[in-house]
Amino acid sequence: MLEVKNLDVAYGHAKVLHDVSFDIEKGQMAFFIGRNGAGKTTLLKTIMGLLKAQNGSITYQRNEISGISPEELYLQGMRYVGQEKKVFSNLTVRENIEIAAYASREPLDQALEKVTAIYPKLKSFLEMRAGQLSGGQRQILLVGRALVGDPKLLLIDEPTQGLAAVVIEEVGKILSGLKDRVSAVIVEQNLAIVKQLADRVYILKEGKVARGITEKSEISDTQKLEAYL
Ligand SMILES: Nc1ncnc2c1ncn2[C@@H]1O[C@H](COP(=O)(O)OP(=O)(O)O)[C@@H](O)[C@H]1O
Ligand SMILES: [Mg+2]
Repeated sequence: MLEVKNLDVAYGHAKVLHDVSFDIEKGQMAFFIGRNGAGKTTLLKTIMGLLKAQNGSITYQRNEISGISPEELYLQGMRYVGQEKKVFSNLTVRENIEIAAYASREPLDQALEKVTAIYPKLKSFLEMRAGQLSGGQRQILLVGRALVGDPKLLLIDEPTQGLAAVVIEEVGKILSGLKDRVSAVIVEQNLAIVKQLADRVYILKEGKVARGITEKSEISDTQKLEAYL
């Protein structure tokens, strides 16, 4: 459902992604791991149309999408959850969900139902300002909000970064509940989560795909993966 081919991306003259190719099939979760600065965030932003590639192609649901705006891709079911865990802090949790309902043209009650289904505790936070949520709750709100509308491909950047161990487990469970419902490309440094959820693992090293691992047994071999971080 997503095929990235020979992608080159640069910031000005600084080339960051070199000839990146990978693909995922419908319902799969692909994980990208790699050191800081490897280009993981740049890759997700490019797929979402937030950055322009110099070369290469991105095919989403059989269509070439280079040059298509993030807003249009959103309407086509693509969702980007950035690394910054940015919610609308001054708005309530309910209003944060309302914005997604409006943007995706989904009825509000249905949107609220969807988001709270993944984390029922959010029901008691609906009137709270999103800025008052803990980091974990904020992340869960962001993932929930990405499910509003008819999402087909989630692009999630380091969902468990900076979260406490119990919350990481919670986020892992939520992501696991999404398996088969949507396709996803997830950047994640927590190898326990990767092992638990990944259908494919891609290792990004200095802007290049150093390896693609599709064998479950190899994905389970944490030591092997650790060597790349
Ligand atoms: N807005 C930007 N302008 C210039 N260089 C950038 C910008 N964003 C990221 N970079 C550089 O691109 C490289 C890849 O960054 P990034 O995609 O954020 O890596 P990762 O997410 O793997 O840590 C890094 O060398 C980083 O310094
Ligand atoms: Mg990053």
